[in-house]
Amino acid sequence: MHIQLQGISKRFNSLLANDKVDLDIFSGEVLALLGENGAGKSTLMKILYGFYQADEGCILIDDRLVVIDSPYAAMALGIGMVFQQFSLIDNLTVAENLMLASTKTPKWQWSDRTHWVNTHSCLSQLAPTIQPTNRVHDLTVSEKQLVELVKVLDADARVIILDEPSSVLTPLETQRFWTLIRQLADQGHAVVLITHKLEDVLACADRIAVMRKGRVVEVCLAHNNQKPELERHLSSEDLIHLMVGQTELPVVHPVPPSLAHPRLHIQNLWVGEPAAVSNPGHNAVRGIDLAIASGEIIGIAGVAGNGQQTLADAVTGLLPLTQGTVHLDGAPVHQAGIPYRTRHDIAYIPEQPLQNGVATDLDLVKNLVVKDINRMPFFPRRAKQRAQALQLIQAFNVQPPNPDQPAGNLSGGNLQKLVLARELSGSPSLIVACYPTMGLDISATQFIYEKLFNHAQTGACILWISENLDDLLRYSHRIAVLFQGEIVGIAETRRASRQLVGKWMTSGRQAA
Ligand SMILES: Nc1ncnc2c1ncn2[C@@H]1O[C@H](COP(=O)(O)OP(=O)(O)OP(=O)(O)O)[C@@H](O)[C@H]1O
Ligand SMILES: [Mg+2]
Repeated sequence: MHIQLQGISKRFNSLLANDKVDLDIFSGEVLALLGENGAGKSTLMKILYGFYQADEGCILIDDRLVVIDSPYAAMALGIGMVFQQFSLIDNLTVAENLMLASTKTPKWQWSDRTHWVNTHSCLSQLAPTIQPTNRVHDLTVSEKQLVELVKVLDADARVIILDEPSSVLTPLETQRFWTLIRQLADQGHAVVLITHKLEDVLACADRIAVMRKGRVVEVCLAHNNQKPELERHLSSEDLIHLMVGQTELPVVHPVPPSLAHPRLHIQNLWVGEPAAVSNPGHNAVRGIDLAIASGEIIGIAGVAGNGQQTLADAVTGLLPLTQGTVHLDGAPVHQAGIPYRTRHDIAYIPEQPLQNGVATDLDLVKNLVVKDINRMPFFPRRAKQRAQALQLIQAFNVQPPNPDQPAGNLSGGNLQKLVLARELSGSPSLIVACYPTMGLDISATQFIYEKLFNHAQTGACILWISENLDDLLRYSHRIAVLFQGEIVGIAETRRASRQLVGKWMTSGRQAA
């Protein structure tokens, strides 16, 4: 199968998201689609999937012109896509979500056994920990990602488009995911992998296309492509250069905490329903004791679903505690309401910002100033708020920099930047950051790390939850591992090795 996108252009009002793009996609190959935030990658692939219609250009499959005017038409042609933002229904089970997505099984045949045996084997191969009866609401972000993947595989797609699928996967899941991608390509599928991770490209891509400002600026072979062709190979440096227009990235270092005064005290923290607390499989935290000094960055590592989200929600005062206390500068956060938290400037970067961090129908101005709602005059002045928002948009390079557009128009990475702009502005005393660089391109990631270090330098304490063990070890002062809701190990990063942390993550308790 050979898909040709020819001269594809797409406008959103005055913004040219795709500008006369030509791209070939072949069966049996993994094509990595790279490019900075807002480059037009998701838009291009949504056009191939029939979610958007191109303003200009055409699509050919095996030299035949095709009209893809809906995702249904795309699926009929064997094209499937996993979106950057999830489209699962939280209140339904995994099996029900898969049934709803299935085009093959009419609803009155949901008990079709052969079909379900296939679906189930696909699910268990990719995500052995997920049961079909699990409610999606109870899954971790990475498990949701895997269910999305099963949805597409289950529809027997011959062309599989994956929009940043690995950004939330743990190292082990990523390995499994890479193996699966290679298997799919070797079985003759065409895979398009949108990613910001060079490791993804190096691990499984055959060809690479780089987009910048709506155009495809380079197509070349990846290192693991054995085919002797005329196209040229690129080094990692060349790729970074193509993606961000520069190779010299700023080097950032965490500054050691200047003061040893703990600002945040978490004492004997228990959260969760009694049943969940006693059942380690559930999202609960148990008996957490942690003190964070002024200027300190504590990294929380662990396989997702071991209580990270619950810990973050509890520390920021969003969840009621079952037992224990959280004090910031001596005052109890756990008993305080929102005005207190705003006054003390507690910054919270939640996971899944589209669901948890923005109001997509509201414009950028409202999304950026909403934290100040308690300090606003009775009749807030729009012009003043707009000027304030514009400043943040520029400082955090939110693209396009139009403060009056709805937040829902932003690309995945720019949406993340919007949440970061709101939360990391001002002078927060406490920053709780869950996967803060998720979906960001290389230069935006560097910028956010710098911002976090600057806040640490001016005395904030930072609780940083991440899947990226390398970055946690490189940039945080101490690293703690959550396992089944408990902190099973904590060490200064200078003294912690990847092996030790990995051992805590999988086997639990620290050897005395
Ligand atoms: N529905 C929409 N309405 C208006 N503008 C849009 C819409 N969807 C995308 N855009 C704009 O089109 C441009 C390209 O967006 P797209 O989502 O394709 O970027 P991307 O390359 O996927 O970026 P990221 O890496 O951040 O996900 C962006 O400037 C975005 O703001
Ligand atoms: Mg995108």
